[in-house]
Amino acid sequence: MLTLGIETSCDETSVALLRDENELLSHLVLSQLEHERYGGVVPELASRAHQQALLPMIERSLAETGLSPANIDLIGVTVGPGLIGALLVGICTAKSLALALGRPLVGVNHVEAHLMANMLLPNPPEPPFVALLVSGGHTLLVEVDDWGEYLILGRSRDDAVGESFDKVAKMLELGYPGGPVIEKAAEDGNPSAFPFPRPMMRDDSLDMSFSGLKTAVLYETRDLAERGGLEQAIPDLAASFQAAVADVLVNKSIRACERSGARCLVVAGGVARNTLLRNRLDATGSREDIRVIVPPMELCTDNAAMVARTAIHYYRQGRRDGLDVGAFATGALDWPVAK
Ligand code: KG4
Ligand code: ZN
Repeated sequence: MLTLGIETSCDETSVALLRDENELLSHLVLSQLEHERYGGVVPELASRAHQQALLPMIERSLAETGLSPANIDLIGVTVGPGLIGALLVGICTAKSLALALGRPLVGVNHVEAHLMANMLLPNPPEPPFVALLVSGGHTLLVEVDDWGEYLILGRSRDDAVGESFDKVAKMLELGYPGGPVIEKAAEDGNPSAFPFPRPMMRDDSLDMSFSGLKTAVLYETRDLAERGGLEQAIPDLAASFQAAVADVLVNKSIRACERSGARCLVVAGGVARNTLLRNRLDATGSREDIRVIVPPMELCTDNAAMVARTAIHYYRQGRRDGLDVGAFATGALDWPVAK
């Protein structure tokens, strides 16, 4: 059984060929560089870049594995949430292939695919567990009773955590995407230099908030700029911001596990690449006797391997989507999971 996975929801064009459940034959990810100079993703540029890249990438994937389109048994494609124009490039390509090859099509929820990336691990987590989903668009704590059965325990009430990395990086003029550049700048910084707030950390609810933290960094940045000390303070600002984010995420994740009685915490999404977060979760997990599972770096950020894995999971359960399947822009784990 060969699944072609297609991902075009934001600024990564990605194609994967997955044999059965776990054998990744080919995996290509192209990160669009055209957005860097704008400090964020420009939707129209993203769509154009996907359109240019996607078909040649599918051809390359097939060529490097010695396969032909006729070998594809299933097509999985991200249908949302994401940028509509960008999603439509992937969806139209997937539908055309499904129609031309006479193969089934499964539409994939991007947020769920981040979580299901963990199914590709040699020793995948088995529900029930708690998941921390941290990406550019989402910050969720989820009780996973089974794959596909989700109870949202907490979420960010304002900015997603990845978004706050991106906004702080923009303030500090470090570039885009924010996560990796903040992490790099923080290497030489003191995480205790600025006592930034940990919003809602002690709050009873498992919800989170990151916009107050972002504003605190903004005020400090303005102050330092006025006093002429901004340049030297950037590593300390980055390290202090990152430490505040990690404190909140670790604290809430452990409490989510306690509350749901889970002994396993599964982390997913682009922010899961953050080394401080990974290390802090690992250390706290060992202390609290909670198994912490984080996918390898390349499966954290947007990729088509996770899309193919999600598609085959639902295909085995009998799901097939028609050629009328459309793109959706917002939401989290509500479609097509709860269909
Ligand atoms: O999951 P993802 O690739 O795309 C979405 O679905 O949003 O996540 C992208 C987000 C961006 O906000 C980026 O700044 C963040 O993940 N990110 C990181 C790191 N690498 C990527 N955040 C913190 N530390 C990192 N090393
Ligand atoms: Zn993503």
